[in-house]
Amino acid sequence: MCGIFGIVTNQNISVGKIALDGIKRLEYRGYDSCGIVSQHKGKLYIKKDSGKIDDIHKKMKLDDLPGKLALAHTRWATHGAPTKINSHPQIDCSGKIAIIHNGIIENFIELKEHLISNGHDFKSETDTEVIPHLIEDAMKEGLSLRSAIFNALKKCKGAYGVAICHADHPDEIFVVRKESPLVVGIEEGKTTYCASDIPAFLPYTQKCYILDDDEIAILRPGEVEFLELNSEKKVKKNAIHVDWSIDAAEKGGYEHFMLKEIYEQPEALKRTLAIPQASIEIFADMLLSAKNVYITAAGTSYHASLAGKFIISKFLGKYIQEMECSEFQTQLKDCLEQDSLIIALSQSGETVDTIEAVRWAKENANVKILTITNVVGSSLTRYSDHVIVTQAGPEIGVAATKTYTTQVLTLALVGITIARKRNVIPASEIECYHEALKNTPEIVKNFLANNIHLIRNIVKNLEKSLNFFFLSRGISIATAKEGGLKMKEIACRFIEGYSAAHAKHGPISLVRKGFPIIFIAPPDETYQRLIGNVAEFKARGGKIISLVIQSDKIIADMSNITIPIPQPGDKYHNLISPITFIPALQLLAYYAALEQGLDPDKPQNLAKTVTVH
Ligand code: M6R
Repeated sequence: MCGIFGIVTNQNISVGKIALDGIKRLEYRGYDSCGIVSQHKGKLYIKKDSGKIDDIHKKMKLDDLPGKLALAHTRWATHGAPTKINSHPQIDCSGKIAIIHNGIIENFIELKEHLISNGHDFKSETDTEVIPHLIEDAMKEGLSLRSAIFNALKKCKGAYGVAICHADHPDEIFVVRKESPLVVGIEEGKTTYCASDIPAFLPYTQKCYILDDDEIAILRPGEVEFLELNSEKKVKKNAIHVDWSIDAAEKGGYEHFMLKEIYEQPEALKRTLAIPQASIEIFADMLLSAKNVYITAAGTSYHASLAGKFIISKFLGKYIQEMECSEFQTQLKDCLEQDSLIIALSQSGETVDTIEAVRWAKENANVKILTITNVVGSSLTRYSDHVIVTQAGPEIGVAATKTYTTQVLTLALVGITIARKRNVIPASEIECYHEALKNTPEIVKNFLANNIHLIRNIVKNLEKSLNFFFLSRGISIATAKEGGLKMKEIACRFIEGYSAAHAKHGPISLVRKGFPIIFIAPPDETYQRLIGNVAEFKARGGKIISLVIQSDKIIADMSNITIPIPQPGDKYHNLISPITFIPALQLLAYYAALEQGLDPDKPQNLAKTVTVH
């Protein structure tokens, strides 16, 4: 959940500045403290503190560091509060070995006790600090730095990505990966980078290597060597070329990444529509031949799975069981059937509970894994039999926005392909569904171009109501839940996304005069019943805000405020409404956060990728 960046170069460039920029691009991974270390003439230079990167930089000039090698870290605290002493880098007793770390060393207590009994002096409460002391210990016994690193890391259990440097090794960074993402970028013969995520070094190079679990990379200026952690043997790796643009990782004139990424949705959807059909067909065929189908994910990806499950099951003729990834093993341990198929959704591909769910399933039954992720080569892809990469481009904002709509679109493409393969609807209807999918970029674009004023007014209107509901039925429950999650995480409001039918079984008792309820109401097969639900809430004094199609009359007339989505009211467009209706709720959360003086890119207590249980 932390961000790691490293650079080693033979060029005349400021490694401090590049390292600082690197962790700023990784700040979405954690932002409670940060630190930088550089190496120069046999000494380490360290600057670190608690707080946000910009504030620390103002105090300490983080980029003002000598040398040609630097490591930088932005932290999301696990072991030890976000204090200066607990921020990274962590060092050994001699002050010669520095390490930055993402993940958790699970056996750190026993390692620490042992090291303390060997005379090591610990300064922090972190699990990380055991690593430099372990290396120091091994070096005292006569091992080289390289052997000491192998020796130390073989003793560490858990998940980690680490980068290590030594005061007496001016041109070597050691990088180790075990279940926490790490990538290496390279400018041949000049400069080598490591980072938790590709956008961190994207302004300098598009050529990169993705580390596998239990691998060590030794970075030298403009070159890199890979070794297996356990066997210590060399590994041959192929570089990949990422075609993300540099400004995809920058804010490009928007005030926040979240807003930029909301606006990038039309383009992201267009690119996703161009995913090769052959890949969609493989996905569809595997679903068709599976006995049982599960779909699993966390957070926003889970909500995408709810919408996707609805679309695919409509045509598949089999029930798809959705399951939060953290519950997967617990709930299925006695009943996971052989020949099942699991669809795993994760924008990052690094969510530990999703990875654990599929890994456990693979180890315990004959199952196939279909993955939808936004990150090529992410951990989840290693356990997968087939992978589709959504084409959202890098998503930096902690709130998932464009990755959600592209996930739903990908699942919808699979659904329509299944409909064609199974011949369950006439070819003319398949064409209409395809048309509706192809229209999604334009619908979202039109909505975003014309409704900011309306959304900002609604936000002002809602300002006094700390709690309210998003209600709906059918496929739109996914939209209601996702809208509610955005409000919770970005605007710090307890907004519940709920089934409108179910709301009568309890939640309705919260409704008082003026209590806002936002109904998500595409004119699908649930519409008539939703009219009844709107009436029930209105009769109790609720203030009705409705998300409807532009030509809607009935629910629009019953509402105090309507948000019109510019799309036709046919069944083809209704089915893709989770894609076209959600931008309104993303914007609502964004502006509600601003209204309260919150930073939408840095929601409190959150990190973009949850890599700890
Ligand atoms: O990378 P993933 O899609 O696996 O992440 C899952 C959740 O952690 C993520 O969607 C989270 O809920 C976001 N903050 C939502 O905006």
